[in-house]
Amino acid sequence: MFHLWVNMDGKSKKEDLEKLEEEVINCQKCSLWKSKTNLVFGEGNPSSEIMFIGEAPGYHEDKQGRPFVGAAGKLLTELIESLGLRRENVYIANVLKCRPPNNRDPKPEEIDACYPWLERQIEIINPKFICTLGRYSAYVLLKIPINMSTYHGKFYDIQNKLIFITYHPAAALYHRKILEEIKNDFLSFKKLIEDKSNKDIKRQQLSFW
Ligand code: URA
Repeated sequence: MFHLWVNMDGKSKKEDLEKLEEEVINCQKCSLWKSKTNLVFGEGNPSSEIMFIGEAPGYHEDKQGRPFVGAAGKLLTELIESLGLRRENVYIANVLKCRPPNNRDPKPEEIDACYPWLERQIEIINPKFICTLGRYSAYVLLKIPINMSTYHGKFYDIQNKLIFITYHPAAALYHRKILEEIKNDFLSFKKLIEDKSNKDIKRQQLSFW
């Protein structure tokens, strides 16, 4: 089990996220607000050092207003537990906050319209690690088209955050090979978190003495 430094400003982060959600609820920057049932803003621990970012709400998420609550969510929860964490310890969000009809792929104009909300969520939570699930979330953070078979399991240091890339859990539900790869990616992600946390602890001890 590795250490997670819990931020002391958890309360204000929670309040800031609540305020942001109130803004997002009224968003009409693309047309998806018209067909959605519920906004899926995101959920989890606002003080977490680890954030997961998926693509867009699906049928169950739209009905419940919560991210990753269907079959892909069950797998994501198991993968998070494989890190030695509980789902409620991390923060989970999506690139799009409203469900695209029939779960079609997000359109570029929808991503452009919704991305500023995600940026503000990331700014408030300020995680050390972001795990992107699938090519859309990797694309919005890295700003390059992502071929998952090349990029999965790799990480990038961007603005002091480690961005770890893996497949979308939904892809792993239908392809055994991807399921094996995503499980291996989570082993690498666990090691990355442990290594970084140990380094940070050493640095803090050195500066303390
Ligand atoms: N797929 C996603 O990308 N996000 C969800 O919340 C659910 C399924």
